[in-house]
Amino acid sequence: MDEKIKEQWDINSEAFAELIGGKGTPHHRSILVPCIERLLGDVNRKKMLDAGCGEGYLSLRFAKKGAIVTGVDISDKMISIARAADTEHIVNFQAGNICNLEGLADEEFDLVICNLVLLNVPCYKEALIEFHRVLKKGGTLVVSIVHPAFNFYGPGSWEMGEKDPQTKRRKGLYFKVDNYFDEKEYQRYWKKRSGEKFPRPISFFHRTLSNYLNAISNAGLVIDRIEEPLPIVEDEFFERERRIPFFLVVRARRSANS
Ligand SMILES: C[S@@+](CC[C@H](N)C(=O)[O-])C[C@H]1O[C@@H](n2cnc3c(N)ncnc32)[C@H](O)[C@@H]1O
Repeated sequence: MDEKIKEQWDINSEAFAELIGGKGTPHHRSILVPCIERLLGDVNRKKMLDAGCGEGYLSLRFAKKGAIVTGVDISDKMISIARAADTEHIVNFQAGNICNLEGLADEEFDLVICNLVLLNVPCYKEALIEFHRVLKKGGTLVVSIVHPAFNFYGPGSWEMGEKDPQTKRRKGLYFKVDNYFDEKEYQRYWKKRSGEKFPRPISFFHRTLSNYLNAISNAGLVIDRIEEPLPIVEDEFFERERRIPFFLVVRARRSANS
């Protein structure tokens, strides 16, 4: 399974880097990143793991804010792209599997971030156990996923209306969900900015909200904040994102004595 996932991201790596463009999509910039940064607080001089770092833009963003960042991704191709973007050599980018971070020592990091990755891994429970292991006592995990209750890469989808001539997006009439309790893999093609399809479909693993939250807790981490972030801008582009939460962001801590 890991080989299949690695191959998908290797083959899609250039298309993914084009989509992210070194700065994130509008959803990253206006919804996820502001929330993640608020939950992390000051990162200066903190040792941070960016788990599933992709083409590396978040790792670089936090390194420029003074964090000492290690970025790990299963795709060697994604890591090559991240290293090439890191012209100042300020991030330690490594190929690796977040479900078995064997190269990383116990209690190495103050902060672990994992942005939109757990929904792409079959072994999310093992990854959370690894995040607990590599966090220092009192350290902080911030993890984001597509909201499991409104999972458009799973059992949910929008019933779509006409294309809005202003935003060029079709209007969402309502969001429908069925078979929420079926935890299974869905495959979806992403599109580049140009509208061209990615070369391979991407695997998304749907899980219930309770299973995600209980897995964090079962890994020994203490959840202290749950956010369903709204866009920080009033842009018409985000009309659907103001009606239901697209993302779930959780902050959890390794306790000071375990
Ligand atoms: C949707 S992308 C998110 C990338 C990045 N976190 C961001 O915010 O742009 C998911 C990433 O997870 C990586 N990935 C998938 N399974 C992984 C695993 N088991 N270990 C490490 N990385 C993994 C993929 O290669 C891909 O780069």
